[in-house]
Amino acid sequence: MRAGLILFVYLEKFMPVVVVVGMQWGDEGKGKIIDLLAENVDVVARYQGGHNAGHTICFNEKQFVLHLIPSGIFHENKLCVIGNGVVLDPQALVDEMRQLEETGIVLEGRLVISDRANIIMPYHGTSDKGRETRGGFQKIGTTGRGIGPSYADKIARAGIRTCDLRDEAYLKDRLLANYQEKQKTLKNLYNIELPEFSSLFDELLSYRDTILKYIADTHVLLRHQIAQNKNILCEGAQGTMLDVDHGTYPFVTSSNSTSGGACTGLGISPKKIDKVLGVIKAYTTRVGEGPFPTELSDEHGQHLGKVGREFGATTGRARRCGWFDAVVARYGVHLNGIDALILTKIDVLDGFKTIQVCTGYKYKGKIFSDMPADSKIIQNCEPVYTEYEGWSENTVGIQELDRMPDNARRYIDSLTELLETPFMMISTGPDREQTIQLDSLF
Ligand code: GDP
Ligand code: IMO
Ligand code: MG
Repeated sequence: MRAGLILFVYLEKFMPVVVVVGMQWGDEGKGKIIDLLAENVDVVARYQGGHNAGHTICFNEKQFVLHLIPSGIFHENKLCVIGNGVVLDPQALVDEMRQLEETGIVLEGRLVISDRANIIMPYHGTSDKGRETRGGFQKIGTTGRGIGPSYADKIARAGIRTCDLRDEAYLKDRLLANYQEKQKTLKNLYNIELPEFSSLFDELLSYRDTILKYIADTHVLLRHQIAQNKNILCEGAQGTMLDVDHGTYPFVTSSNSTSGGACTGLGISPKKIDKVLGVIKAYTTRVGEGPFPTELSDEHGQHLGKVGREFGATTGRARRCGWFDAVVARYGVHLNGIDALILTKIDVLDGFKTIQVCTGYKYKGKIFSDMPADSKIIQNCEPVYTEYEGWSENTVGIQELDRMPDNARRYIDSLTELLETPFMMISTGPDREQTIQLDSLF
């Protein structure tokens, strides 16, 4: 009896469910890191967002950008799950599946989609773009992929879910109710006419067989995987500062990208989450509108954008660039419960004489070291900087910490101290190989 108990406790300790989150405004390099970590796990499960995400993976001199399919797909025998928290555009999904199959990746038996995921319909994209260009609201600079309107329908209990594809009559009724509502609102608000109902319905039906082949009750599947001591990696999209509750609202996405989203977006109990890892860039970027205290509109910002190739992996838009913001990072460490961080793109800082790190926001004589709720304060604050010596050496592709220039090591050590959190890996280039492993996950 006692031996059984000890064995049980032992197994509990070694069956990790690990959540990987972005720590800034997205594009921290989550795709590279999740692909790398996926080598040692059984399941990679995406928990929120939609095809607004663009996760880049590089190996064997090839580059792939994934939008919906989890970043474990390039490792054979890994199960890839799209959770209930994801909003699914059928066309984007089918296109991405085809592209992967063309490169020889077998998806059947490896890709599983939640039967509870909400579907993005073309009118969601229309509504997203309408509000951005013609609405009375401030422009968010969305990806225009219909993410906000489809999550709005989900919360309003009007959404269409993947399981609805199983029942054609129910699907038709549900879509018609949505169609009639959207037809009126889009016409009234933006003078936009929707296509005929039949064309919308037929288009949805055209994806039905493909999607039905892949859907399952993924929460049950994950529960069984956990019971069998499998290692599960929960893949977050976007980043902490784009979280709908905790980000720079209203300049955020429409889902919970922080670690709690993994529980609701996959149906995993918080008690089963073993570790949370944060992916963080050595500087900061953001795409779209919204406050960004450390943004650089000078030649330093241009240099970061050029050397870091900071163009959106989904929309191709130039990313805004700036210095590392420790207020943002500390906020993310606490909100997500970060156990270890993974620092990316340190190589992009090569050649800077000095490097700045923001440690507080000054606003009307007051210093904020915690993130204020009000976007206007974040917009109008003055960042308080600490300056570090840069390095002239080339760090691209370095795999051992010992080979890093002294000042780069000092910069990394200072970030560890500021954030009171260790680094597990340091990424020195886009490729899988261009990584310094400081600690292993399992
Ligand atoms: P994600 O959305 O968080 O997965 O990040 P993206 O793929 O949108 O953007 C990260 C970009 O940086 C991609 O082009 C990656 O190939 C690239 N990248 C990732 N890690 C590194 C790194 O350590 N150094 C450099 N130079 N590029 C990197
Ligand atoms: P990954 O997963 C960076 C941004 C958009 C916009 C805001 C709302 O690649 O890190 P949305 O279309 O979601 O309604 O847009 O969020 N955004 C991202 N920025 N990386 C992403 O994903 C993003 N997904 C959305 O630019 O400012
Ligand atoms: Mg991205």
